[in-house]
Amino acid sequence: MATTLTPVLSRTWDVNRSWGLDAYERDGGYDALRKALTLPAADLVTMVKDAGLRGRGGAGFPTGLKWSFLPAPDGGPRYLVVNADESEPGTCKDIPLMMANPQVLLEGVAITSYAIGCNHAFIYLRGEVLHVYRRLLRAVEEAYAKGYLGKDVLGSGFDLDVTVHAGAGAYICGEETALLDSLEGRRGQPRLKPPFPAVAGLYARPTVVNNVESVASVPSIVANGVDWFRSMGTEKSAGYGLFSLSGHVTRPGQYEAPLGITLRELLDMAGGVRNGNRLKFWTPGGSSTPLFTDEHLDVPLDYESVGAAGSMLGTRALQIFDETTCVVRAITRWAEFYAHESCGKCTPCREGTYWLKQVLGRIEAGHGTQEDLSVLLDVCDNILGRSFCALGDGATSTITSGIALFRDEFEAHITGGRCPFDPAASALFD
Ligand code: NAI
Ligand code: SF4
Repeated sequence: MATTLTPVLSRTWDVNRSWGLDAYERDGGYDALRKALTLPAADLVTMVKDAGLRGRGGAGFPTGLKWSFLPAPDGGPRYLVVNADESEPGTCKDIPLMMANPQVLLEGVAITSYAIGCNHAFIYLRGEVLHVYRRLLRAVEEAYAKGYLGKDVLGSGFDLDVTVHAGAGAYICGEETALLDSLEGRRGQPRLKPPFPAVAGLYARPTVVNNVESVASVPSIVANGVDWFRSMGTEKSAGYGLFSLSGHVTRPGQYEAPLGITLRELLDMAGGVRNGNRLKFWTPGGSSTPLFTDEHLDVPLDYESVGAAGSMLGTRALQIFDETTCVVRAITRWAEFYAHESCGKCTPCREGTYWLKQVLGRIEAGHGTQEDLSVLLDVCDNILGRSFCALGDGATSTITSGIALFRDEFEAHITGGRCPFDPAASALFD
């Protein structure tokens, strides 16, 4: 039986002014918070653990388990920080979610904060998306006015302040510890882990850092229960998620579906590859994951199956490329991104991403040599596992997999002295 969509987070996106508090309340918004506030906080942690919700930011770490890592209260503050710094090429699920329904995120923030004993939560947003910042500020204002945030939330005795913070637009600030440094007013660079933020996070206090989609998924679990959530997805990858289809697809967009759906099924719903073209390659989870091809069309998109196929599920950013795409050019564009976004803290990534960009650029321009392919793989080898954070490793994924899958295309650039797809590319990358 074909898998169908499971619109939960995206259920009301087509409603007129779906982002307003009125629209959210008409759809049962904040009923889950009312219910949560009647339960002991520890029961909510157990509920999210039992539901099997895993971090939707990419790593898939069990959300309830992360909450339970917080040490016992010591009278000092503890924080929730929502990672809304969505910046990975191809990753585009949190921004539409916050634009279409910011209140579901705020309800999730309120429930999560109550569950972990936090009285001040932060939403750290990527700086360039001013429209999202404005929408979140307005949503927070509306929620305060209705008593869903602020002092004595819904008369429960629980106090919660929410601060929306816009960063300055650096990809590295999506790494949770760099995000915390940035939020504290410092240059955003990753910290050594452990200690994990659960133990020493914002202002060295216990902190839960959760992705937007993870937090926004909490109200529906509280409202509908553990069994309902577990009835979707697979045993180890429970529930649903937003799958972002972009690139050469007939109907790109957000497809909310159970984890474990395949790209073949998603493409059927999205009208297939554009113009009836052939699928050449795709990314299962943004530009930090290896390239997949049509051989992977039936890989269930859950953490375990994608892992077994040699990748991470990541952010479910499915970038589709058809037969007209030059794979070297696509990989070069990603390499430019990583070189630009490397924070410079560690040598393998700072120097390595620069050289990856340089060597790929000259291959794409038709000036490469056979030796350059070995150089690329050698540089990747020196970054992988030797970098301070996941950015360095992520920069190598499309390159090593791209050379393994499409070596002939790299060689055609070298032997032909130009890009076989677009001779004008020589000028672009010279
Ligand atoms: P990670 O696996 O190191 O950690 C995942 C989470 O679990 C973190 O919050 C960490 O604090 C927590 N954790 C892990 N072990 C723990 C322990 N023993 N005690 C307490 N907490 C623990 O992954 P990381 O580096 O945080 O994230 C990498 C992922 O980020 C990648 O899978 C990638 O897909 C994703 N990503 C997402 C982007 C986006 O735009 N949403 C951009 C770039 C990467
Ligand atoms: Fe910075 Fe890159 Fe090192 Fe991460 S891997 S700390 S982004 S230089």
